[in-house]
Formats: sequence, structure tokens, C-alpha cells
Amino acid sequence: MQFINTLNQGFGIADCLHFETGPGGLPVATITTAKASAQVALQGAQVLAWQPSGQEPVLWLSETAEFAPGKPVRGGVPVCWPWFGPLADKGLHGFARNRNWSVRASQQDADGQVLLCLSLQDDLQSRLLWDHAFDLELHITVGASLTMTLTTRNTDRAAFTINQALHTYFRVGDIRQICVLGLDGCTYLDKVQAMARLQQSGDIRFSAETDRVYLDTATDCVIDDPVLGRQIRIAKQGSHSTVVWNPWSEKVMPDMASGTYQHMVCVETCNAGPDAITLAPGQQHSLRAEISVL
Ligand code: BG6
Repeated sequence: MQFINTLNQGFGIADCLHFETGPGGLPVATITTAKASAQVALQGAQVLAWQPSGQEPVLWLSETAEFAPGKPVRGGVPVCWPWFGPLADKGLHGFARNRNWSVRASQQDADGQVLLCLSLQDDLQSRLLWDHAFDLELHITVGASLTMTLTTRNTDRAAFTINQALHTYFRVGDIRQICVLGLDGCTYLDKVQAMARLQQSGDIRFSAETDRVYLDTATDCVIDDPVLGRQIRIAKQGSHSTVVWNPWSEKVMPDMASGTYQHMVCVETCNAGPDAITLAPGQQHSLRAEISVL
């Protein structure tokens, strides 16, 4: 792992990007631009916060999130890769969210946006879980919108198949009053009903545990939040599935205080289930989500 002072010397940008030791001793990048601020943990390349100027925070981070080496943090944008959901006895959502990523590049562009590029490659530990050579890169752009582009390169001699997600937790005023637009008419697999294949009719509203994989979705989603008085747009590329999740009070999780489900919703930019990506040696794929407040 790179040390904080080495990171600041190599990649810090005066007044807008610096690295520090965050909660649990985990290194965190703090980004401040004229249009927004953000925090990114190097463990998992996990965006923890993004707040456009003059707005309330857009991402939800559990007040009881655990910050510890090797543990995923509840909130922000965990990167699920190279599998999504369970895989045998190897845990949920892959290993990328639990590993320390390296800083590959940083830059401030002409518009004042800050770009931070983090990377992860295979090593002995990853080979034990998933025996392939890879290069994974997350490009994060912080400005009036938040853009995350996850690029997988197959550096192996054989093809491999991945599922993945930018598992974004959004902060909302009241889960019972929001709706998610953009998935009307889409087929979904309902995890709460034994993966029943159903069809969405109208906008998504929430009144119970919701855990769905929407298929063949390439269009934007919008979270309409009358309580916070805003709409959040999620535009995407390289993704044909969207997961919508709220655990309600049914799921008890130690890193999520009771009742807090009312203030979050996950709308996840994915390649999940049948939307898996197979890459031949030398091939690459990019999954991109752009989040903005309307
Ligand atoms: C969602 C899944 O993407 O992530 C849910 O659809 C799962 O089934 C949720 O419970 C949270 O997963 P985890 O591993 O972060 O607790």
C-alpha cells in the first residue's frame, strides 16, 4: 500500500486533492472543487461521499458503517467485481470492494473537475478466489456531476466472464415518498420472490423490502425525491442491468442502524445475471455511471 505522504507527493493537487488517514486507519482521498466535494477510500476504490455545492449530500453512508481492513463499507459506492451476489462460499459481490487499490493518476481538468484514477491487479490473494489475470481501473471524475468508469482489461491467456456493479447508495428524504423513474415496462428478477420473472408497471415505489435485477435496461434512471425537493439522474453506459434495493426493516445488518433504511435507496449500475460480460485475452470493457442532481 502507498503511504500517505508518498500519495500526497505523487498525486496530491494543491487546494483540491489530498490524501489522509481516515476512519479505521484507511487511506482516504478528499476532493474539493468549486462545484463539489467528495471522499474516496482507497480500500475498494469506494466513493464515500459526493456533495455538489449548495446541495445536500447525494450519497448515503451508514452512520454505523464499519471502517476496517478487508471489510466492505455500508454506503457510498462499493465496487462489486468480478461477481455480483453470492458465489459458492466466496462471499457476496466479489473481492474488489475489500482490497486496497493503488492510485494510478490524478489531474484537474480545464473545467476544474478533479479526476482520480485507481487500479487493482491480480495477485496471490485474488488468484485463490478467482484464478485470472486482470487489470481493473476506476476513473472517478468529481465536479457538478460524479462520473465513475470501471474498466476491466483481460491480461490473462484465457477468456473470463464477469458480473459487476457500481452499487450506489443514494440518500433520500423518505423511502415511502420517493419513486424511481425509467424502468417502466422492464422485466425484472425479484430476489424477494425466489427470483420470479416479473414486469415493472409504472414508476417504482417502495412499501416493503425490494431487491430486483432489472434486465435489458440501458436508459437513464431518475430518483424523484419530493421531501428533499430534488431529482437525481443516473445515466449509464456499458450496462444492461440495474439493481434496485432497499432492505426495509426485514433485514437486520450490524452496520445499518434500525430505521435508517427510510433514508436510502440503491440504484445500481450493473452487468448482473444474464448480462454477464465475457472478455477474450487482451479485450476490455468499461462500465460507466454519471450521477447528477437535476
Ligand atoms: C444488493 C443485493 O445489490 O446488495 C442484495 O441485490 C444485497 O441482495 C445487497 O443484500 C447488500 O449486499 P451486502 O453484501 O453489501 O450486504
